Amino acid sequence: MILWRKKKIEEPRPSITEVYREATRRLRDKAPGYAIRLADEGDLEEVRAINLACLPENYPMYFFRDLLKNHGKAFYVAESPNNVVVGYVMCRIERKPGFFRHFLVKSGHIVSIAVLREHRKRGLGYALMAYALKSLYEEYGCEET
Ligand SMILES: CC(C)(COP(=O)(O)OP(=O)(O)OC[C@H]1O[C@@H](n2cnc3c(N)ncnc32)[C@H](O)[C@@H]1OP(=O)(O)O)[C@@H](O)C(=O)NCCC(=O)NCCS
Repeated sequence: MILWRKKKIEEPRPSITEVYREATRRLRDKAPGYAIRLADEGDLEEVRAINLACLPENYPMYFFRDLLKNHGKAFYVAESPNNVVVGYVMCRIERKPGFFRHFLVKSGHIVSIAVLREHRKRGLGYALMAYALKSLYEEYGCEET
């Protein structure tokens, strides 16, 4: 008797462009007035406060400053309609052994992401990830995340 094994059909992964476009759609529909923008030094106190409020992994201020200085093109904040920082994503670029183990590849590492509880489920987390991924691939030339 021959048994035919049903071949698993893998869902094609969306491209960065598709994810970014979807983020724009979610922001428009679910978070009108909110914005995602690159972080600057003046945001770091608010970012640190959000990190303390949302996550058990907390860091000293120099850690945030270091990520902003060295990987600032992939450090984003979400801003509410009244210009308050309500979320962030921060990343680091690492070199890791690639698939064949012989070469080191540039890998984007999401160090931390958080959105204040009262601003969740509006697509801000998705949008922060989309912006960070786009920067990791396009600005830093990462080959994987
Ligand atoms: C994770 C977090 C950033 C999501 O923020 P958000 O603005 O509510 O996210 P979104 O509204 O964009 O939702 C994005 C997707 O994630 C899902 N999601 C959100 N929070 C989730 C959670 N805690 N567990 C599982 N899925 C979650 C949503 O359902 C949505 O799914 P969809 O794309 O299928 O619709 C937010 O819940 C948070 O700050 N959590 C505490 C910090 C944390 O856990 N950070 C991650 C580890 S560093």
